[in-house]
Amino acid sequence: MTEYSGMRGNYLSEIRKAHKSDIQRCAEIMAVTPIWEKYERTMDDALTFIKNELNAGNFIWVYEEENTVKGFIGCVEHGMMGEFPYVRMVMVDGSHQGKGIGTKLLNYLEDLMFRNKHLIFMMVTDFNTDALRLYRRLGYEKVGEIPDYKKEGVNEYLLMKRKK
Ligand SMILES: CC(C)(COP(=O)(O)OP(=O)(O)OC[C@H]1O[C@@H](n2cnc3c(N)ncnc32)[C@H](O)[C@@H]1OP(=O)(O)O)[C@@H](O)C(=O)NCCC(=O)NCCS
Repeated sequence: MTEYSGMRGNYLSEIRKAHKSDIQRCAEIMAVTPIWEKYERTMDDALTFIKNELNAGNFIWVYEEENTVKGFIGCVEHGMMGEFPYVRMVMVDGSHQGKGIGTKLLNYLEDLMFRNKHLIFMMVTDFNTDALRLYRRLGYEKVGEIPDYKKEGVNEYLLMKRKK
């Protein structure tokens, strides 16, 4: 796995690699998102998910501001076709959404991943239209669709961004 170090922004906020001590906070953010609830996942499932990502050596970067983790992004560096970065999740605490944190996390990930690869992939659930709007604005295009992915009637879109 390529080693990417954290990047300090200003003194109030930074994006850094998640530590084990961030697992609880990331799971708390994740467990209350509509997307997680739609798939009937619990706080325990969220904890297991985050732990497994870190144990597998996958990246998780957190956005921390004034000593509070307000969002995080996860990525499997060679998760798509064993070659291209695959964004596992991007989640921002409900009370801090719409303030540009998700955009900063995605920009950060792209800065790192586009150093070595020209494509980045992710999936988004079809009803998550707000997130889809953001991803489209950032240059992600729908390149595929998985019908009834985990639940009947709930489809997943495969999105791709190409390095400019
Ligand atoms: C999707 C998400 C990561 C975006 O992060 P964010 O920090 O809220 O986004 P930003 O402030 O950088 O950008 C704002 C844009 O995000 C989108 N957005 C998605 N959910 C939003 C929300 N609850 N509130 C505000 N904007 C949201 C909109 O397109 C918005 O653009 P607009 O001003 O044109 O409406 C975040 O809202 C979130 O965690 N949602 C719940 C979890 C989720 O669905 N994650 C994505 C699937 S893994």
